[in-house]
Amino acid sequence: MPRPILATISTSAMAHNLSQVKARIEFARKVHSSINQQCLSKIVAVIKANAYGHGTLNALIGFKAADALGMIDLVDGILCRDNGWTKPIILLEGFFDSQDIEILQHYQLTTAIHHQAQIAYLNEAKNVGKPIDVLVKFNTGMNRLGFHIDQAKDVLVQLNELKAKGIVGRIGAMSHFANADLESIYVNDAAQKILAIAPQFDGQLSICNSAASIRYPYLALQHHENWVRPGICLYGSSPFDIELSQYPSVDFRPTMTLEAKVIAIQQLKAGDKVGYGSLFTADQPMKMAVVACGYADGYPRSAPQNTPVMVDGVAASIIGRVSMDMITVDVTHIPSAQVNSRVVFWGDGGPTIDEVAKATGRIGYEIMCNLAKRVPIKVV
Ligand SMILES: Cc1ncc(COP(=O)(O)O)c(C=O)c1O
Repeated sequence: MPRPILATISTSAMAHNLSQVKARIEFARKVHSSINQQCLSKIVAVIKANAYGHGTLNALIGFKAADALGMIDLVDGILCRDNGWTKPIILLEGFFDSQDIEILQHYQLTTAIHHQAQIAYLNEAKNVGKPIDVLVKFNTGMNRLGFHIDQAKDVLVQLNELKAKGIVGRIGAMSHFANADLESIYVNDAAQKILAIAPQFDGQLSICNSAASIRYPYLALQHHENWVRPGICLYGSSPFDIELSQYPSVDFRPTMTLEAKVIAIQQLKAGDKVGYGSLFTADQPMKMAVVACGYADGYPRSAPQNTPVMVDGVAASIIGRVSMDMITVDVTHIPSAQVNSRVVFWGDGGPTIDEVAKATGRIGYEIMCNLAKRVPIKVV
């Protein structure tokens, strides 16, 4: 029998979360005056990093209603095309080499253009009758990737020449907020920069991640065609300091559940110590469960005492240090706890991924992405 550990990926929760983003934007269409009522609003489901740990092919099922997919790796774009995805695919960092251009043309992948080097590569490309759609990435304050706003005209001239040669197709604009999870002053400043140059682009405008789509949905309705790029909220985790469940008017559901079984019960005496480094000392007789999950499964080793878990449907907490293959849990108050009891570490029937992230000094993104390959996955 394999180790009793399982991650469940819910494609129906993914689909539900996608519909929540749509609802949020359509709500903004009704209530905000500062929007373009004609704006065509589309959703790019961001599935980079193996769909935030959920599996690229599972994301194809969960997000089949999305208008496009956003990712980093060319290989993932090919995988999605080979598995029947016919809608747009956007490479959020663009391409890395002149040899990639043939692949963009063949698989009809839309690419971000964030650097002059990429334009130089496009200038060397052959016209094979399949123009590549591009999103010019602008730096609005993140200072990571993108052209300066002042370069918009010059970049457009170059890309329009490439369009005339049949190398480039639609030319849109994009930017990525550094602080969409914070106060509006930061977002407004960045948004104003890109909105000022957006009318020069006849292609799409793409600026909103999860935080901006939820907090500033009116930004998803600027320009004649707007592509929002939510990631984390589609997987039911919060882009904010607060949990999504505390955020008004949204209903996002967990898409990943990690559970394992109890493989041993220990009765501790007062003074007994637990695990590597003997971090925990029992101050009274205790019942402790040893569970088949560890940091090699992706559970954060940084989990302190009191990190929440659920045993047989009852809230409990971790004691001692998380080891490679095992976690120890205080089950003194759970009489039913025994070998084979179900322990949920996060997700449906357990703490939220954000609660675990908070307790362990991580963010939900890291916890999901770190789910280890060795954990068997059930897709529902
Ligand atoms: C360019 C870009 N767009 C959108 C996203 C999605 O962001 P989030 O997961 O915060 O919604 C990311 C993720 O980091 C990104 O890099």
